[in-house]
Amino acid sequence: MSTNTRLFQSRPWEQFAAFIENANYTSVFLVTDTNTEKHCLESFRLAFGERTFVHTRIDAGERCKTLEACTFLWREWQHAGIERRSIVIALGGGVVCDLVGFSAACILRGVDCAYVPTTLMAMADAAWGGKCGVNLDGAKNAVGLFRNPVAVLVDPVFLQTLSNRHKRNGFVEMIKHSLLQDPPFWQSLQALDWPIQEENMDSLLRQSLRVKREITEADPLERNLRKALNLGHTIGHALESCALDEGRDLLHGEAVALGLLGELYLSAERYAWKPGLLEGISGLLRNFLPAQEALPSSYEALEQRLSYDKKRSEQRILFSLLERPGKPVWDVDPGKDGLHHALDYIRMEMEKHKE
Ligand SMILES: NC(=O)c1ccc[n+]([C@@H]2O[C@H](COP(=O)([O-])OP(=O)(O)OC[C@H]3O[C@@H](n4cnc5c(N)ncnc54)[C@H](O)[C@@H]3O)[C@@H](O)[C@H]2O)c1
Ligand SMILES: [Zn+2]
Repeated sequence: MSTNTRLFQSRPWEQFAAFIENANYTSVFLVTDTNTEKHCLESFRLAFGERTFVHTRIDAGERCKTLEACTFLWREWQHAGIERRSIVIALGGGVVCDLVGFSAACILRGVDCAYVPTTLMAMADAAWGGKCGVNLDGAKNAVGLFRNPVAVLVDPVFLQTLSNRHKRNGFVEMIKHSLLQDPPFWQSLQALDWPIQEENMDSLLRQSLRVKREITEADPLERNLRKALNLGHTIGHALESCALDEGRDLLHGEAVALGLLGELYLSAERYAWKPGLLEGISGLLRNFLPAQEALPSSYEALEQRLSYDKKRSEQRILFSLLERPGKPVWDVDPGKDGLHHALDYIRMEMEKHKE
């Protein structure tokens, strides 16, 4: 899989317009959700200039990341005359990018797609790396593929209308990236005042994206090193799927913050982290935990969801952990007892957070 995605981050609109112009696309299709139509479409229109495009709107939120939404897009695009040399642009958060990227990859056996991420989650993480797809019966990202967008345009101006909760949500993935980097930069995140100033956000996003880019370019198809990016996500995805099943409101980043606590606990136990290190990182993560109840009523429900996990191999649930911050390891089986201890640790940290 090629990784020649163009990243537009400095004077991004000028570069993006030139890119679209030079590529000679026969038509442009834009997709927003209801919220990005309201908050981001006008800025897009102004920055994109005179060029015409066909706009389609989908409903907002994780619950709409479905094959039904893809079918809706495919019909709309087909009726509007999409061609192999058209381009589809996703203007939205991780849900819009994942869904539109997948839909564009399938229609006419693949039409070019560009992402204009509008949430911190999508800017820092979802827009880069080529994973796209949808949920199936509550199982997160169960149907999807690897396909890189041709371009990603990062403009933090869109964060101005994003709620504080969604900013915190995206920040969790930046913490994850900071823990994977060597030397790790998580301490510098600990020192930041919240809410983060827009001028600081630009350089934080660059640092965070660099980690994701280096890892995904070295191992685009997740055969080895890319598994490091699953840190916090084995437990995180299971919690998120349980919440989807039970109709509870839990954002991806909130679930990953909990998953990180559990998986860092496993890392600290297994690799004998120096005293105080786990507590320091947990203290940072505690600021990003969900306000509401986030753990399922029984560990069995969670174990059942974990057993659906795509990362499962040879009947074992494999985790990506840290030998220490900056030194990821993967394909680790902590066993059932390990998993229960990790969940106990998450529960304990949630209690501290409520105090
Ligand atoms: N492909 C990947 O590598 C990858 C990585 C991380 C996360 N993800 C996926 O991303 C999704 C989560 O992303 P998300 O948090 O961006 O979700 P999202 O797309 O649902 O956006 C969150 C909410 O913010 C609204 N919104 C978006 N931009 C806005 C703006 N500028 N102003 C006001 N409101 C705005 C959206 O309409 C939505 O209601 C999950 O489905 C997750 O699986 C994918
Ligand atoms: Zn994630």
